[in-house]
Amino acid sequence: MSIELDHIILDVDDAEASSSFYADILGFGCEGEEGPFTVVRVSEGLTLQLSPRGTAGGVHLAFAMSRPEFDRVFSRVRAAGIPYGDAFDRVGTQTGPGEETGARGPGRTLYFLDPNRHLLEIRHHEREGGAARGETSAVGPLTVADFERLAHARLPRPAWDYYRSGADDEVTLARNTEAFASYEIRYRALVDVSAPRLATSVLGTPVKTPILVAPTAYHKLACPEGERATARAASRAGSLYVASTLATTTLEDVASACEAPRWFQLYVHKDRAFTTRLVERAKAAGYVAIALTCDTPVLGRRLADVRNGFGLTEGLALANLQEILPPDLRSGPGSELARFVASRHDASLSWKDLDWLVALAAPLPVVVKGIVRGDDAVRALDHGARAVWVSNHGGRQLDLAPATIDALVEVVAAVGDRAEVYVDGGVRSGTHALVALGLGARAVFVGRPVLWGLAADGEEGARSVLALLTEELDRAMRLAGCAELADTRHVVRRRG
Ligand SMILES: Cc1cc2nc3c(=O)[nH]c(=O)nc-3n(C[C@H](O)[C@H](O)[C@H](O)COP(=O)(O)O)c2cc1C
Repeated sequence: MSIELDHIILDVDDAEASSSFYADILGFGCEGEEGPFTVVRVSEGLTLQLSPRGTAGGVHLAFAMSRPEFDRVFSRVRAAGIPYGDAFDRVGTQTGPGEETGARGPGRTLYFLDPNRHLLEIRHHEREGGAARGETSAVGPLTVADFERLAHARLPRPAWDYYRSGADDEVTLARNTEAFASYEIRYRALVDVSAPRLATSVLGTPVKTPILVAPTAYHKLACPEGERATARAASRAGSLYVASTLATTTLEDVASACEAPRWFQLYVHKDRAFTTRLVERAKAAGYVAIALTCDTPVLGRRLADVRNGFGLTEGLALANLQEILPPDLRSGPGSELARFVASRHDASLSWKDLDWLVALAAPLPVVVKGIVRGDDAVRALDHGARAVWVSNHGGRQLDLAPATIDALVEVVAAVGDRAEVYVDGGVRSGTHALVALGLGARAVFVGRPVLWGLAADGEEGARSVLALLTEELDRAMRLAGCAELADTRHVVRRRG
């Protein structure tokens, strides 16, 4: 059935901020505000309305869409030409004000108005066949995107925003994942892949999977057990856990929670005596490496956090930093974390400080995290780092920074076989991991996917995400004709 539509309603959290975003994606001009709606003229007789959450019948949808999914939906709409709706299933009618429809999450549904202003629910997966990637299904979460949607549904808004956000326009956040599509896997045929070997080691520490857990802050926002749950999940998955300086659990409590091999991620504070104590504590608690994060002299501006006045909720604390927390941390405008970083992190940090840290951390090796250039990678090794971690902090620091998978190529070329190189950023599937390994990464770290698992189902959720990615990598290796991780080096190339 084809339906002539004169309005599309996207129910969003922040109509003003979203209007130019959608206008940009859709390629339509923005006409400005009208009543509670921001109205964007779509074409003759067709109007796109962005309404604040709740005013369009309590549905929550487009805000949660990832950009590629949104693009896909509307390229189909455009390709089909008006009448809109023809390319989609009509599956529902208007929901009552304030009702949760279960539609929150990345890109499940859009709601269109017909000329009589009846709200129709439109699904954007294929009409026939099973659920597409990113759709829920009766068999539980099958992809990282499924976990992301569950996390979105469960997390309070400020926590979701904090985990999800990137810096500024979030170009780099999107780029990290999108850039994987520029690579192809030239699979090899007729290789014995009956038992691919995924176990490896990082700086001599054996791990059962090359999918490792990047340091992320504030795990108690996701589940009450917080970092202890994540560390146990990493242990059960045969992975490695990197504990953040900004954890909501002390590094000693994380250590006592599990046997997982673990590194400690360090932010260098202006107070060097305190920084020294952190390193000594990590050594005493059995951490086997120090990962120095070098992309955060100041905190990138994550707009949602500023708007939300984001800070830790009552009862949660920056557990490792209690002795240096300013008493007035909670008061002040904008993001609490941005204020903290501005007041305590040492923005004067430079290469000579790496020499200092390498000596301080010995005998533990220092890994430098946050490198996106070959020359910086070489400099890090010249100053005593034992490994290089290609990262742009998950697109949360400098927007327009390169996608890490692209940066990896340059860094691997510069480092050669002098040291191990790791990468994180935008890895959401086993094929992404295979591409990263194929381009020379020794291991791949994931940040948000583990948080989605943690928010969805605590320790079990985080473990499931790691197991899922490992299983996807296993399958991708078999299909690519790779029996060993090293074989991936022969099958990945840039397209075109
Ligand atoms: C919510 C959140 C908190 C983070 N906290 C830290 C941190 O405390 N220290 C750090 O070095 N990196 C931190 N990162 C960056 C991650 O270590 C990692 O580089 C990034 O998440 C990888 O990208 P991905 O989330 O797309 O996998 C954080 C990332 C997120 C999403």
